[in-house]
Amino acid sequence: MQLFLDTADISQITARMEGGLVDGITTNPSLIAKSGADIMERIAEICAVVPGPVSAEVVATGFEGMLEEGRRLRAIADNVVVKLPLTTDGLKACRTFADEGIPTNVTLCFSLNQALLAAKAGATFVSPFVGRIDDMGGDGLGLLEAIREVYDQYGYETGILAASLRSVTHVEMAARIGCDAATLPPGIFDSMVNHPLTDSGLKAFLDDWKKTGRSGLSQG
Ligand code: G3P
Repeated sequence: MQLFLDTADISQITARMEGGLVDGITTNPSLIAKSGADIMERIAEICAVVPGPVSAEVVATGFEGMLEEGRRLRAIADNVVVKLPLTTDGLKACRTFADEGIPTNVTLCFSLNQALLAAKAGATFVSPFVGRIDDMGGDGLGLLEAIREVYDQYGYETGILAASLRSVTHVEMAARIGCDAATLPPGIFDSMVNHPLTDSGLKAFLDDWKKTGRSGLSQG
């Protein structure tokens, strides 16, 4: 499963790029607004340090405007994925970009029918918003399972990009369900490595080693 960071904060991104665990980035208008940066400049900055897919979202709501903005975003770098809202115009723009070989991420997916339409529009990724569904008393992980089942049943190649994840458990469940990618706030990404038994186990190993009086791995 690919792991993306869901942020437009360049310092948060650069701090996590070493180590090869981050496969790409997703942004949205709220995240760009929060960063205070110009969207074109910030996407260019991100693409300069991230070789994998970088989702950049249009803000136009009409078909022609989406095409114009999507092309401008895509012109920034070859790894830009044009992010489009799951609306009639967004799906139409998705089909146009798919026919041109431009990768897309159809976002704000809250139902199986919407995910079915995104696949039929040729989306590269569809982004179901797990946490926001849970917030409404729904079953976000259940939606991921349903999309996986239907995509497999019909052989749709659209990647399921689990979004709006709120916990490390969400990440584990997205992986078990077979999502192709998950996008995480940096804090959740950082938490994935943590386990109290790893910490206590390492402490015990090092305490035992210290008792030998050796420094490092040498005998001296
Ligand atoms: O970027 C899309 C999605 O991950 C947003 O998540 O936490 O704003 O619901 P959230």
